[in-house]
Amino acid sequence: MFEDLKNQFFSELSQVSSNEDINNLRIKYLGKKGEVQKLMKKIKEIPPEQRKEYGKHVNELKKEIEEAIKNKMEEIKKLEKQKAFERMWVDVTLPGARRKLGHNHPVMKIWREMEDIFVSLGYEVVEGPDIEDTWHNFDALNTPEWHPARDEHDSFYFDDNHLLRTHTSPVQIRTMLKKKPPLAIISPGRVYRRDYDATHLPVFHQCEGLYVDKRVTVGHLKFTLEEFARRMFGENTEIRLRPSFFPFTEPSFEVDVYLEGYGWLEILGAGMVDPEVFKNVGYDPEEWSGFAFGMGIDRIAMLKYGITDIREFIKNDVRFLRSY
Ligand code: PHE
Repeated sequence: MFEDLKNQFFSELSQVSSNEDINNLRIKYLGKKGEVQKLMKKIKEIPPEQRKEYGKHVNELKKEIEEAIKNKMEEIKKLEKQKAFERMWVDVTLPGARRKLGHNHPVMKIWREMEDIFVSLGYEVVEGPDIEDTWHNFDALNTPEWHPARDEHDSFYFDDNHLLRTHTSPVQIRTMLKKKPPLAIISPGRVYRRDYDATHLPVFHQCEGLYVDKRVTVGHLKFTLEEFARRMFGENTEIRLRPSFFPFTEPSFEVDVYLEGYGWLEILGAGMVDPEVFKNVGYDPEEWSGFAFGMGIDRIAMLKYGITDIREFIKNDVRFLRSY
């Protein structure tokens, strides 16, 4: 009787693998209405002289079952813990999951490169407003009424006296009105003109440069632009100055760079600051001299990256943008 129950118990115990199973088994054997209790109750049917012996057996069996259940519970606890660890296991030698990062637009890259070059030459980066008045954009820059840039058909006007700046040169005026010479600044930013084709966008980017000091010459201008071209396009890059005209510089130049596979290419306008401009900002032209230049950032990005249609810059095709 005891042996049968014991065998039955151990065979059931060997099937148990979860907390729930072992609990059910405990109730089945040790509970108030469990198998061991049933044996206890049967003691009444046992002849009195055998009762002591019987009780001893039941107690032993009870102890054995309790012990076995306790051990099994501990075993299950350990197993569950191990399973939990296995679920948390991480292979730290695996390569990390790389997050996709965005990157700078090719025009922005050139913008930053320009800033780095000129900052390393001692220039300060300053900004001006996109919406300008005609005085800062034209008059102070000695640009007469008849100049085509002033035409409504070429520029975006808000009213007679306000427009989206057509170049970054008004920042020269704003800077000189605020600071005393000597000074060296560049001013990158957006500019606006009514143009749209493979080489012109209505919104594009320029970088202005202005250097004012005593006895500044065309030699200083040429050195500075040559140094810029060499750092931007490579150390043997040649530049050349061709005579040109801007109302705010005298003399004025168009500046070309020689690029392998292209030949001579115009990259910027420049010149010696016109005495009239100095007068407009209260600098004495007898005492101060300087040079200024302005270049298209988009244009330089096109040359550097071999892009032939400027409109690629604003299509936002990630395949295009990712390749620079
Ligand atoms: N502002 C001129 C342009 O937009 C460029 C320039 C700047 C020329 C400074 C001379 C000096 O074309």
